[in-house]
Amino acid sequence: MTNVTANCESIHHSLHSSANIVWQETDITREIRSQQKGQQPLTLWFTGLSGSGKSTLANEVEKRLLFNGNHTMLLDGDNIRLGLNKNLGFEESDRVENIRRVAEAAKLMNDAGLITLASFISPYEKDRQNARDIIGKEYIEIYVSTPLAECERRDVKGLYKKARRGEIPNFTGISSLYEVPKNPEIEIDTSQYSLDDATNYVMKKIAQYLKRDYK
Ligand SMILES: Nc1ncnc2c1ncn2[C@@H]1O[C@H](COP(=O)(O)OP(=O)(O)OP(=O)(O)O)[C@@H](O)[C@H]1O
Ligand SMILES: [Mg+2]
Repeated sequence: MTNVTANCESIHHSLHSSANIVWQETDITREIRSQQKGQQPLTLWFTGLSGSGKSTLANEVEKRLLFNGNHTMLLDGDNIRLGLNKNLGFEESDRVENIRRVAEAAKLMNDAGLITLASFISPYEKDRQNARDIIGKEYIEIYVSTPLAECERRDVKGLYKKARRGEIPNFTGISSLYEVPKNPEIEIDTSQYSLDDATNYVMKKIAQYLKRDYK
């Protein structure tokens, strides 16, 4: 009878709209796309503190894969935050959503038959577990375990200095927690290896997962 009632109805409808969505099957499947590319899709998920070497290492690993004839895509934290996730901040709920969207994007890349390299601090265990749940067996966690002192010494972006001055709230390792991964498939401390040796190590470790039809 009133406009108020009409408004309530439209809100009610939008809240329940996913109940009316049905998965659309397609003839070209993820298996066919990956077969066409002759590779096993994977998501190589690099996690670790800022400055630990995630982006540097992911960049080298992608070059090796590409050189070996693989088809790849790299999703890097800062770049995604400048685009897809530019409406998100750094408080906990936004970090959760940041990782959820990235995991969904990585999964879509895997559906396309690609090997995805994802480089995100991803400090919380439950978010990494959520990414693992979304992506499935293709999720390979690479914990870049470079110690905080070395990351801070590198201070590539000058962010640790700012964080120590209290200019960055919620900075991982300083004013926000980094939960150490419990069971990463691969762990690498880049303070112990040259970039080339670290890349060789990761390539050797991922060889078993790169096999076609890896289960
Ligand atoms: N063995 C190594 N592997 C990777 N990086 C190394 C290594 N040795 C030194 N570095 C240096 O460490 C720095 C790592 O910075 P990088 O931007 O890759 O970190 P990040 O983990 O991506 O940080 P952020 O989360 O802020 O993006 C680079 O300056 C790189 O040259
Ligand atoms: Mg980076």
